[in-house]
Amino acid sequence: MTNSPEHLAACPSHVDLSKLKGDFPILSRTVHGHQVVYLDSAASSQRPQCVLDAMDVYYQTTHANVHRGVYTFAEEADRLYDASRVAVGRFIGAPDPEHEVIFTKNATESVNLVAATWGRANLGRGDVVLLTDMEHHANIVPWLMLAEERGVELRWVGLDEEYRLDLSDLERLLDGVKLVACTTMSNVLGTITPFADIAEAAHRAGAVVLADGAQSVPHLPTDVGGLGCDFLAFSAHKMLGPTGIGVLWGRRELLEEMPPFMGGGGMIRDVRHDGFTPNELPWKFEAGTPPIAEAVGLGAAVSYLQAVGLDAVHAHEVELTAYALSTFEERFGSDLKIFGPPGTSERGGVLSLAFRDVHPHDLAQVLDQAGVCVRAGHHCAKPLMRRMGVTATARASFYLYNDESDVDVLADAIAEAGTLFA
Ligand code: ALA
Repeated sequence: MTNSPEHLAACPSHVDLSKLKGDFPILSRTVHGHQVVYLDSAASSQRPQCVLDAMDVYYQTTHANVHRGVYTFAEEADRLYDASRVAVGRFIGAPDPEHEVIFTKNATESVNLVAATWGRANLGRGDVVLLTDMEHHANIVPWLMLAEERGVELRWVGLDEEYRLDLSDLERLLDGVKLVACTTMSNVLGTITPFADIAEAAHRAGAVVLADGAQSVPHLPTDVGGLGCDFLAFSAHKMLGPTGIGVLWGRRELLEEMPPFMGGGGMIRDVRHDGFTPNELPWKFEAGTPPIAEAVGLGAAVSYLQAVGLDAVHAHEVELTAYALSTFEERFGSDLKIFGPPGTSERGGVLSLAFRDVHPHDLAQVLDQAGVCVRAGHHCAKPLMRRMGVTATARASFYLYNDESDVDVLADAIAEAGTLFA
């Protein structure tokens, strides 16, 4: 057992947030002669060395397909894959991690899985799905596809003047709704939605509730019981893990009743000429060879985040956002518009910016010359952009490895753009 892969690479059990930048090798890179300042974690985060090592060691010391072999490598791969599922489940407070955590490709696939299985089995002409104006395309398009296919009606919760959800009419909007699909935190505005209240009202109205947790699970402590959701979707690559793996958590009773998503090996118990019998949970939803090394990496990412502590991560990001808001106000005043609720009590570390009349893509290019990475564009949220009255923003998003010096570099680079585009 001593040379088993579990013991060869592990993340530390305690990580001091103020000293962790050095754990992320990519952050020591220079770009255009400047040390990189990575402010695009809402699109994808970076990874600490121990996550990279966990996947490397897995490939270097043991690799085999899972749930198919009885030799040592295969059993080790099984153990690592299954352990990651349990670790992820515990991370989000899942009551039954072994059965309720489904590995998908990403949060987008998780939402599509629910739409294609629960949706097709439960929604038909005249049924209503309630969405909000701050959803990412991943939590809009699968429902539009279902609406087109099945005649399902979509309703929308609007926003107030300060870019919070306007819940004043929620009871009426919920009338006759079968599913509420809502983000826990906007990828454009940083707005943290009052998800538990929405879920409670939705359940009172008899609806099932899906949480798009892609932006909040990496940054805030998550407990599916506290959120009150029936489904939770999120991606590994936004929470220090690899690309290629995401998670769908679902309440076991719902997952048991749902038909399978994709067909193939692994998801069946029996196949005959005239039909098949689906496998048990969670494999019913995991057709084909799953992302095994990626699951190992996600398990390591979860363990790293736990070693820092999600409360500490959130507190750090609140502090950094407050610093950014006051720095921007002091240096740019009304020249720099920041979309989203004022203050830091209802928002995470995501700042969508409009600087004078500089186009967001031009701004992002000038920032890149200073080594600063931000995303410019519609952020896969076109209905929200229309509501904001813009076609694009430049977006800076923070994570646990950012600090005040990154905000200062960003502010200097914005000032430089101001000079160039004066
Ligand atoms: N959802 C990701 C973003 O907001 C890709 O950038």
